[in-house]
Amino acid sequence: MANHTDKISIETAASTKINTVDFSNLDFGRVFTDHMFVCDYNDGKWENPKIMPYQAMTFEPSARVFHYGQAVFEGMKAYKDDDGKVFLFRPKQNFDRINKSSGRLAMPAFPEDYFFEGLEALLKLDNDWIKPGVGNSLYLRPFVIATEPAISASPANMYRFMIICSPAKSYYNSAVRVLIADHYSRSANGGVGAAKAAGNYAAQFYPTSLAQKKGFQQVVWTDASTHTFLEEAGTMNVFFRVNDTLITAPTSDRILDGVTRKSIIQLAEDLGITCDVRQVTVEEIKNAAKDGSLKEIFGAGTAAVISPISAFEHQDELFEISGVGAEDSYAKLFKQTLLNIQHNLSDDKHGWRHEVK
Ligand code: COI
Repeated sequence: MANHTDKISIETAASTKINTVDFSNLDFGRVFTDHMFVCDYNDGKWENPKIMPYQAMTFEPSARVFHYGQAVFEGMKAYKDDDGKVFLFRPKQNFDRINKSSGRLAMPAFPEDYFFEGLEALLKLDNDWIKPGVGNSLYLRPFVIATEPAISASPANMYRFMIICSPAKSYYNSAVRVLIADHYSRSANGGVGAAKAAGNYAAQFYPTSLAQKKGFQQVVWTDASTHTFLEEAGTMNVFFRVNDTLITAPTSDRILDGVTRKSIIQLAEDLGITCDVRQVTVEEIKNAAKDGSLKEIFGAGTAAVISPISAFEHQDELFEISGVGAEDSYAKLFKQTLLNIQHNLSDDKHGWRHEVK
């Protein structure tokens, strides 16, 4: 399969940390497996792909990533079924998206063969870290940073691509309360909102911290020019259920083209649920909350899976959503349907599972 001449070199860890980890009590993204994948870009080509023990790295303080934020990433998960088979979910989507993100930040595309061979070699070495059972997964974080030691404000000539892995349970432990943005913005027309650029997340931390002080975990972002259209929450795309119809915003150069989002849209079609992909206004959702037709809001993302939203506030008007946790909720239905596919517990008619052999 490889188009590249460099074989992935493998240096294994002298010992495993796995016995120090309490898998029943995992805080998202704090524990990492024994190994990581690393590949460098020099002189116009990706070279020297290797797997090595997870460890700290050294960069010059002038590395461009520290100054201009040339950094993009992905979020993926590996799942194990009860027979020990390991699966990725639609990994080509993540591969395509990281390169799209890189392109937007003037960074070089990463080769497909290294991406898949690196991932698969890493998952074989750290296989024991993937726990079977719905609710368990190994979160995978591919990312690319500009490593060239030079601080003129221009794209780097040297990059590092890496994959690190972290055992994960749920991202949110309970239903999420959100604040609808009416001042700050996550992204703008022609900006980098559709890219999974590190800076998109940093830009949300301050407004999100203000929301958290008011008791909300997340901000639901609105369009930067008018703050009238609902777009996405920082860690997930958002779906609204009005009566029995789902509504979600169309992707654009402001919104992340989420893999979970597009899977929900397809599953809705499979399940005979109408899903309108269209612009959705804050006003119509407030009105639907007032007249009782707003049944549910939920977020969809790789880390967050499907996370019900139990309340939203907009300009000091607070709305509690009553349908959260109901047996017949769409959030529950989509979460179960998705997890069953991911964990090899149901048919995979769209070919979304990718077995790691
Ligand atoms: C993911 O769902 O993988 C994300 O990238 C969200 C992350 C910032 C936790």
